[in-house]
Amino acid sequence: MKKNLIIFGTRPEAIKMAPLVKKFHEHNNEFETRVCITAQHREMLDQVLAFFEISPDYDLNLMKPDQNLYKLTADIITNLKPVLEDYKPDYVYVHGDTTTTMAASIASFYSGAKVCHVEAGLRTFNKQSPFPEEVNRSIAGSVSEYHFAPTTLSKENLVNENVSESNILVTGNTVIDALHFSSKKVMSLDYSDNEVGHLKTIVDHSKKLILVTGHRRENHGQGFINICNALKQIAIDNKNVQIIYPVHLNPKVQKPVFELLGEIENVKLITPLSYPAFVWLMSKSYLIITDSGGVQEEAPSLGKPVLVMRDTTERPEAVNAGTVFLVGTDKNKIVKETNNLLNDKESYIKMSKLHNPYGNGTACTEIVRFMSEIDL
Ligand code: UD1
Ligand code: UDP
Repeated sequence: MKKNLIIFGTRPEAIKMAPLVKKFHEHNNEFETRVCITAQHREMLDQVLAFFEISPDYDLNLMKPDQNLYKLTADIITNLKPVLEDYKPDYVYVHGDTTTTMAASIASFYSGAKVCHVEAGLRTFNKQSPFPEEVNRSIAGSVSEYHFAPTTLSKENLVNENVSESNILVTGNTVIDALHFSSKKVMSLDYSDNEVGHLKTIVDHSKKLILVTGHRRENHGQGFINICNALKQIAIDNKNVQIIYPVHLNPKVQKPVFELLGEIENVKLITPLSYPAFVWLMSKSYLIITDSGGVQEEAPSLGKPVLVMRDTTERPEAVNAGTVFLVGTDKNKIVKETNNLLNDKESYIKMSKLHNPYGNGTACTEIVRFMSEIDL
């Protein structure tokens, strides 16, 4: 029996690891699989666990209000030691590029477990953007034994860093597995969800819906002020538009957003949504403005144009296909490109073509197959 430990800590990691937890549990004759959450996020993580019905075996409960990277990193490493020593996993699975990913990969490497990196190999080659995620992802990659790359481009990045090809598997992104699971559940007739029900009363169906999310550290401060001023301008100029913005719980995001956008009639600021409610809202939106990594991957699969409030992205696949466009945090550029999509039908149709560079929702099946063929 191979002993797996799956570690995650934030909302996006939970969404993208939940289908893998489920898939490994289906194979419990071959794998013993336990889940450890650092709870780098609390409420936003618990929403995801509830939807996917996952009860963690270990909960480090680490989130502190307005936490900093130094203490969070130290706390993750020290608090994982007893878990790793108690369970003694053969394999530890980490996801992506957060502080949980980086610190958990190092702690697991120290324990002697083999680290398996899911969503490996994405790179901007710019240490400052995304910060600190670009470096977190590289560190996790450098201590990992097995690398699950979502696309051939991310595989090539790893090969260029001398990772052995036999230790890399191109799988697609597990977010598509999660999206399929969620869409199927939300669209089924007997599905009832208070949050989706409540959202239906908020959405103004006579208007074009712009869905907004944002949280990136490198955008804190002036970046968020520019973003909010751009959204204000868009709302004032376009009375036929409704902006809905589920605001990330980070105080550095909440403060500018509520101060600058709290009083605008056609802007609705709401609390972070559960995953199914967010998927439902994406499906109803006309376009999406975001700095999120995960949303850049999901929206093209739903045929929704995305304006990305970043200067660079480690996910160039949808940008190259023309369904995602980088606008940075320049107020005028965000306003101009949004107005273009609102008013120029041809541009809109071009950008809203369905495009799915991130696989067909079988990433987790492929990861489990690969791991079952590995000799302990
Ligand atoms: C983190 C990740 C980022 C990821 C993002 C997803 C790092 C360095 N950053 O950024 O890569 O894209 O999560 O959202 O790993 N908070 C709550 N409740 C929650 C979640 C957050 O109150 O459920 C507040 C807390 O005050 C917390 C703060 O947000 O201290 C910041 O959380 P943190 O995880 O440090 O940073 P994020 O910006 O969420
Ligand atoms: N998401 C959600 N509720 C929300 C906003 C986003 O469930 O209110 C989901 C979204 O579908 C995506 C993930 O959260 O799968 C993205 O998380 P975030 O933007 O916080 O992190 P990133 O992907 O940038 O690391």
